[in-house]
Amino acid sequence: MNPGPASVLARVPLSAPPRRWSAEALVGPGALGRLPGLLRNRFPDFRVAAVADAGALRRHAGRLEAALPPGSLILERPCGEEHKTRAEKVRVEDEMLRRRLGRDTVILGFGGGVVTDLAGFVAATYLRGVPYVSVPTTLLGAVDASVGGKTGVNTRWGKNLIGAYHQPAAILVDTEVFGTLPDAEFRNGLAEAFKMAATSDAEAFAAFEREAGALRRREPAATARLITTSIRIKGAVVGADELEGGLREVLNFGHTVGHGLERASDYRLAHGAAVAVGVVSECRIARSEGALRARDEARVTALLASAGLPSRAPAGMRRRDVRKAMGSDKKARRGELRFVVLEGIGRVRAAGDGSGRRFAFPVSESSLDAGLSRIGL
Ligand SMILES: NC(=O)c1ccc[n+]([C@@H]2O[C@H](COP(=O)([O-])OP(=O)(O)OC[C@H]3O[C@@H](n4cnc5c(N)ncnc54)[C@H](O)[C@@H]3O)[C@@H](O)[C@H]2O)c1
Repeated sequence: MNPGPASVLARVPLSAPPRRWSAEALVGPGALGRLPGLLRNRFPDFRVAAVADAGALRRHAGRLEAALPPGSLILERPCGEEHKTRAEKVRVEDEMLRRRLGRDTVILGFGGGVVTDLAGFVAATYLRGVPYVSVPTTLLGAVDASVGGKTGVNTRWGKNLIGAYHQPAAILVDTEVFGTLPDAEFRNGLAEAFKMAATSDAEAFAAFEREAGALRRREPAATARLITTSIRIKGAVVGADELEGGLREVLNFGHTVGHGLERASDYRLAHGAAVAVGVVSECRIARSEGALRARDEARVTALLASAGLPSRAPAGMRRRDVRKAMGSDKKARRGELRFVVLEGIGRVRAAGDGSGRRFAFPVSESSLDAGLSRIGL
């Protein structure tokens, strides 16, 4: 992790050779101010339709308006997971069609992951696809949702079941917007960033450990470094496996149990909290499988705890409800639960080679038992 000052914009190149897309993330204070230059260089004479999260807009409309070229359209959308729907997508599309926006339109998503997933999905299908620029305004959006090209909406049958892969042309992370984020939202982002370093980058993990205090205090320079590092890690994973045939599975570390907890709580448990508890549980599973040393398990749980993230399932939650909810995960294969097994900081279990490489495995019933007991279930 490069320890530069927060006032400098960091550039993270992103690409995936087989499909030949490339993009760039700009991270730092005032990054949104680079939008006019980016449009001039890459999309001259395009019009911008900004799909904007009402919560982010309430706090940062001035910042967005200052960066948009004249003639841009701002489509304000309600925030909240319950609005990440096909109906909401239709509303955005109808408004764009009514205004006769053509293929010379760049769609810009401004908000948390809910709105950027929706905006990206509109961009993927509007007139068979137009360019997309992501401007995440939550930490989770910056370190995770904006990177990788997954877009989509929820249905009554589950989250993110309808969507498309559509890579952003650019990601602009203006770190000045994070000042208004509630602590719980900030922690959501930290949970995902810590998870990525734990599975994929020992050096980044050690840097996060050193900066744990600064991150807990939400210091801008440390936050910007965390974002840059996380985008680089996720970008590398996605660059190697854009369409989820293999390596991208490592991003699900902590999520098999985490999704079960989220579902069993009827989504009242925050995603970041669920992932943190899921990571604690899956570290114990890895230890019980003989893959992870106690010392490394302790490092992961200590880093999560340093950010104020929980390590136990909410009081009153029942093991059998979590088990049932884990079984209905869309990533379970023919009902069989599979886990990313951590083997050390920055290392996970892998099998096979080439395109058949696998990163998620069934585990023994006793390991699963140990993992669930560890989080109080
Ligand atoms: N595409 C992907 O690869 C990917 C990865 C991870 C998560 N996601 C998706 O991301 C979504 C979760 O995203 P999220 O955690 O950002 O939640 P969110 O989009 O619901 O935003 C959380 C809240 O923060 C508010 N907000 C946004 N910016 C703010 C700011 N700067 N200051 C104050 N408040 C602000 C929003 O209005 C909202 O109320 C889920 O739908 C999930 O499926 C997608």
